[in-house]
Parts: sequence; structure tokens; C-alpha cells
Amino acid sequence: MSDFTRIGVVGGGTMGAGFAELCIVNGLDVVVAAPTADSVARSQRRLFGSLARQVEKGKLSAQARDLALTRLRFTTDLGDLADRQFVLESVPENEQKKLDVFAALDKVVESPEAILASNTSSIPIARLGRATARADRVIGIHFFNPVQVLPLVELIGSLRTDEKAYLAAEAFVGGTLGKQVIRSPDRPGFVVNALLIPYLLSAVRMLESGVATAADIDTAMTRGCAHPMGPLALVDLIGLDTVAAVADALYIETKEHSYAVPPLLARMVDSGFLGKKSGRGFYSYDKRP
Ligand code: 3HC
Repeated sequence: MSDFTRIGVVGGGTMGAGFAELCIVNGLDVVVAAPTADSVARSQRRLFGSLARQVEKGKLSAQARDLALTRLRFTTDLGDLADRQFVLESVPENEQKKLDVFAALDKVVESPEAILASNTSSIPIARLGRATARADRVIGIHFFNPVQVLPLVELIGSLRTDEKAYLAAEAFVGGTLGKQVIRSPDRPGFVVNALLIPYLLSAVRMLESGVATAADIDTAMTRGCAHPMGPLALVDLIGLDTVAAVADALYIETKEHSYAVPPLLARMVDSGFLGKKSGRGFYSYDKRP
């Protein structure tokens, strides 16, 4: 178990809200910072809806939910993260956005012992560390969607991350949050996305070239390989924009064709078809919570 009890989250999207939920049900005090009142409202809907489903399913009592919610605050002011001991940045996969957040957190978070973590899938941790004056406390902590359900977390230290900070983060994620941790070097795609992204993009290329329908591609992998969901449904779950952004970052660094975004994926993102969160991707979704 770790000593972190005051947790901050920057970005209340799918991953940030999932992480905040995980923390409050594990007894931690959480402040979620989002850029606007609208994004706070969206994040609240997401998180409250997810907790409500847990209550409906009998996995969480209404009383435990209410208690968990007393530990949660939302803000549009990053300054409200000043007293946090551990902050997870979870803004969209855009390097400049993330650099700006790290530079701002460096100024705001008071304790020099605090850990500044990123949930990035693809941006070098060394680069995020350089946006601060405390690269030794900056670390990659990569969760998987849905955060509340999937057990794995990748832990990524940069060449400058302090070993003690790394071990403290490992104790927090593996002990307090009960996740299974694997260690990854600060390399493109870490472990999971280095394997996953080429697979997902291959499925999009297969659809694009008319080899098979979306449903058949997904059925091939769910029924033939026992994956919990097919690759196109998974792209919808992760978000087409996120998959494209991660693939772009990996392509820029490695120049490997397997990471090149297929035109179909790029056009769908341009058209606002972002997957489950936008109601339409390779499949259509009911957007009601
Ligand atoms: N919050 C809380 N619990 C949730 C949830 C959520 N958002 N979504 C699903 N669950 C729970 C359900 O309550 C259910 O639990 P129960 O069986 O105890 O009731 C369990 O998860 C299974 O959910 P469902 O029965 O609704 O549906 P499925 O059995 O189809 O499971 C799934 C859904 C968990 C999403 C499963 O299909 C799955 O694991 N898919 C693969 C997801 C995956 O590969 N994610 C990794 C994405 S890569 C990534 O995130 C990295 C990035 O960098 C790209």
C-alpha cells in the first residue's frame, strides 16, 4: 500500500473519469480538473452514470456510492490541485496539450515529493518530464479502457525518473488500486500499443480494401481467437481519434508502415465519427447514458 491519499486528475474524459472512479471507490480523495464547465458536466455524467450502473448491478451499495462521491470534487481551476500528492494527466493524446499541462502542474503542485503521472499511450515520458523542473518525479502510468475493469497498467520511467518515485507509483497502482503492473521502457507504444496498434490498423485496412465486412472482421477475432471484442469494435471503444493520434505519434518516431494511419480512419475522424463516445464509428451507438 502507498501513502498517497490526495489524488488529482487532469482531464475528465473516458480515461480520467474511469481513474477518478477507481480512486474514490478505493477510499481516496480526488479532485478532477477539466477545462470548462461543459467538460466538467460531461465528466460528471460519465462518472455518475458508471457508478449508477455498478449500483444497479448490485456490485456497489448505494451507501458506498454516496460515500465515494463525498471524496470527489470537480474544478476548472488547475490551482485546486496544489495540495495533491499524486496527479494523473489524462488529456487527449496531443503532445502540445500534454506539455502545457505538465508545465502548469509543475508550477501548481506544491509538494516536491508529489508524483506527476501521464496516462499517455505514446508520447515519450522524457519529453513530458522536460516540460517541468522535476523530471525525476514524472512517470508514465498507462491504464486501459475501461479503467475500472481491465487489470493491467503499464508503468514507464524515463531515463530521469527517480527509482524511489517509480517504486512509490508501483506500490500505489499495484497495492492501493489493485492493478497488475508491468514495467515498460520509455519506448514508442510501450508494450501494449506497440502490439495493439498495428493489429487495429490492419483491421481498418482490411475493411477499407473490401476484404470483409466490419461485422465479419470482428466475428473472426471474437469467435476464432476468443478476443472479448473484435478490432473494429475496440477502435470504437478506444475512440477513432485516440487510435489515430497514438498511431501518428508512433509513426513519426519509428517511420514503420505498420503505424501509418489508413485514409479511411483519418476521414472518419475528420467527419466526427469518433466511435462509441460520439455515437458513431464503425458501428452506431445509442448515446443516451
Ligand atoms: N465501468 C465499470 N464496469 C464496467 C464498465 C465500465 N465502464 N464496462 C464494463 N464493465 C463491467 C461490467 O459491469 C461487467 O461486469 P460484471 O460481469 O461483473 O457485471 C464486465 O465489465 C463485463 O461487461 P459487459 O458484460 O457489459 O460486457 P463485456 O463482457 O462485453 O465486457 C469489456 C466489456 C470489459 C469492454 C470487454 O469487452 C473487454 O474487455 N474488451 C476489450 C477492451 C480492451 O481491449 N481494452 C483495451 C483498449 S487499449 C487501451 O485502452 C490503451 C489505449 O492506449 C489505446
